[in-house]
Amino acid sequence: MNVLEEVVPQAETCSLENYLVLPDHTMDDRIAAAREKLGASTVLLGHHYQRDEVIRFADFTGDSYKLSQAAAASEADYILFCGVHFMAESADVLGRPDTAERPGQRVILPDLNAGCSMADMAEIGQVEDCWETLLGAGLKESELLPLTYMNSTAAIKAFCGERGGLVCTSSNARTAFEWAFARAEKILFLPDQHLGRNTGWAMGIPMQEMVVYDPWQIGGGVSPERLRAAKVILWKGHCSVHQRFLPEHVDKVRAKYPEMQVIVHPECRWEVCRKADAMGSTERLIRLVADAPEGSSFAIGTEIHLVNRLAREFAPKGKKIITLDDTGCLCTTMYRISPQHLAWALENLVEGHVVNRIQVRDDVKHWARVALDRMLEIPA
Ligand code: 13P
Ligand code: SF4
Repeated sequence: MNVLEEVVPQAETCSLENYLVLPDHTMDDRIAAAREKLGASTVLLGHHYQRDEVIRFADFTGDSYKLSQAAAASEADYILFCGVHFMAESADVLGRPDTAERPGQRVILPDLNAGCSMADMAEIGQVEDCWETLLGAGLKESELLPLTYMNSTAAIKAFCGERGGLVCTSSNARTAFEWAFARAEKILFLPDQHLGRNTGWAMGIPMQEMVVYDPWQIGGGVSPERLRAAKVILWKGHCSVHQRFLPEHVDKVRAKYPEMQVIVHPECRWEVCRKADAMGSTERLIRLVADAPEGSSFAIGTEIHLVNRLAREFAPKGKKIITLDDTGCLCTTMYRISPQHLAWALENLVEGHVVNRIQVRDDVKHWARVALDRMLEIPA
């Protein structure tokens, strides 16, 4: 075994097509065997939305914040990220760089098509145009800080880092807002309007002081007067999975199960979060269920794989868990990481081939790291 080889052309690797024709369950032994051969050289990180067939092999599971901490702390040479593209990019930014003494960490995303529709809603060129629009409307750089949700490209993270801003996740959005407001009067928040609005509202910022900037409209579709008057400028982006949850779903649950607690992810609309009993990152949602007394029941507004897993895990403890909307809220991009992709990436690694390496450009890496480090320094 030689797991320290550099990237090799795809043609020399075990072909993915040979894996994709095989049934899921036949991958289990192969994944376990490859993991054993790779030993401590490889760490497998799994986001809570991953399928059971994949997440069961993870060394660490978590929300985006916890996984970025795990990536930053890991000593492994290879970080296999079972999550989506922006998470793997962040791991590459936070990972150990190449030095003369030792090669840096290599981050692998088992399927390169595992993106995030929300992250795709903000492109760096659009963000630069937005910044120019804001300055053109009379806002001053000294009064404005850009803050981006983890669910964004490394280039956008770097944009924020270079301008004194930072990254946040759903578990530390409020502390990130407080950090930013201690340094500036206004925030440009990218790319999730719902997380931004929910956070601003929870801090007591009135709705009329939060405006939505639409990158597809001239001037963001907001008058210069309104931009100047705003405290929070929200990018017009959203998560297509969480935006499916509606206030009517909460009403329906309340009518049918009056004793049930409704808990939701802050990527849900403000109208839904307002009606919920609590909101939080995936890690917090899990904790709320785990810490509740026996016999508690929850309707959860988040991705279906996590909800189903919680339902199964806590049924023996007498806890009833249902999804807030049973028409199925599946993150199709998280779902792209299949056992076949995982087995393919691991077996290639055993052969010394790094496939699907995620590598952020060095110039982008510097400022993205500044923005991510600022996030890791504030409390979650
Ligand atoms: P968490 O950080 O809460 O896990 O959320 C990540 C995400 O993409 C939710 O849609
Ligand atoms: Fe992106 Fe939404 Fe999927 Fe999270 S659930 S990874 S925000 S598309």
